[in-house]
Amino acid sequence: MARTNFGSKLGIIAAAAGSAVGLGNIWRFPYELGQQGGGAFLLVYILCVLLLGLPIMLAELLIGRMGQHNVTGAFRSIGHPRWRFIGYAGVLCSFLIMGFYCVVAGWTIEYIWQAITNQFADKSTADLAAAFADFSTRPIRPIIWMVLFVGITCYVVLAGVQNGIEKSAKILMPVLFVLLLVLCLRSLTLPGGLEGVAFLFQPDFSKITPEVVLSAMGQAFFSLSLGMGCMITYGSYIDKKNNLEHTALQVTGLDTLVAVLAAIAIFPAVFALGINPAQGPELVFITLPNVFAHIPGGYIWAIAFFMLLSIAALTSTISLLEVITAFMNEEWKLPRRKAAIIASCTIAVLGVFASLSLGLLKDYTIAGMSFFDLLDNFTAKFLMPIGGLAIAVFCGWVLDRKRMEAELSNEGKLKLKYLKVFAFLLKYITPLAILAIFIDQLM
Ligand code: PFF
Repeated sequence: MARTNFGSKLGIIAAAAGSAVGLGNIWRFPYELGQQGGGAFLLVYILCVLLLGLPIMLAELLIGRMGQHNVTGAFRSIGHPRWRFIGYAGVLCSFLIMGFYCVVAGWTIEYIWQAITNQFADKSTADLAAAFADFSTRPIRPIIWMVLFVGITCYVVLAGVQNGIEKSAKILMPVLFVLLLVLCLRSLTLPGGLEGVAFLFQPDFSKITPEVVLSAMGQAFFSLSLGMGCMITYGSYIDKKNNLEHTALQVTGLDTLVAVLAAIAIFPAVFALGINPAQGPELVFITLPNVFAHIPGGYIWAIAFFMLLSIAALTSTISLLEVITAFMNEEWKLPRRKAAIIASCTIAVLGVFASLSLGLLKDYTIAGMSFFDLLDNFTAKFLMPIGGLAIAVFCGWVLDRKRMEAELSNEGKLKLKYLKVFAFLLKYITPLAILAIFIDQLM
């Protein structure tokens, strides 16, 4: 059976960028950056994107389009069935990410509600922080939003690749982009905002520690949806005429741009309003409502922002659920409907525990972490980089170079500009850098 393809070039980029751009850019990136030394983190992050993210993005799209199957099936169909293990790890990783990601996505729905009911007006930073702490530790309310979010994701995935994923991403991502630009302008012009610019762009090199480097690497994998087969799955829906080199560059570039814009929208405001930059996961949920209070028409901006943030999260959760659904459908021969529903129910159960681990169950920790933090750290700082390492080794050392070239050049039709650089990175630099970062942790 022929696979459904993404309909157009813009559709491919919108879908892949929709997967990459999400809570990782707007929620996770700023709070990691705030906790891990500002500019120093940003610098290491950009290096990770260039040396690890970009080559692995291309490698995944390549494997996917060559294989025309789900994450495990792709390796089998290109004649390397042993490397299927990357796919199994990827499916597991998708479940684990979904387990906490949907909780945060649920928070964005709560914040749409709070924006509509005008709950940010006249609140001080302390009030906003208290309101967030109160909401996120409640037993029921965040779970209802999380379940709703999982349900919406499941619905869109069942509506089919082309209709569901592509259409929504194509329209809404550019709107989010414009809104972020407006927020950047406001944040930069707040009195005292320049301190935030310095925090971001004047790196203090003494702050670069092994922990900062590991976090930046994890963030790069997480933000670009790499190391767990998401881009392999999406690559399998890309038609044979697409220029994968361009697609990889564009998606990586857009994702990084959105992360940097989110940081510029947030940090000047953080300093102007006297918020602690190392606040943690609540940073965005405290800072931006505060900024909206300082914008003319802030009421409307706030609603628009949290709606778009939810949608950005949705285009990411869709891609995560698609990894699992395509796998169960093709490997286990379950109908797509059944696969998506079973996966969604499992995810909702993980989500319940992740959400409760911030409140009711906060005394139960694993390796000193709440279940929520465990899911987050284990996927971003371990599973995804390990998956990325395996993918780089596979492309650099195992996959026949001629086949790789033929696939990337669309059987000789395209002139490849960067093949040599990519091949070199994938063979030596990317795997060695990931290994070095891990070894550095153990020392
Ligand atoms: N890249 C997404 C984000 O930055 O929000 C998160 C993500 C989506 C990770 C899809 C992994 C994935 F497969």
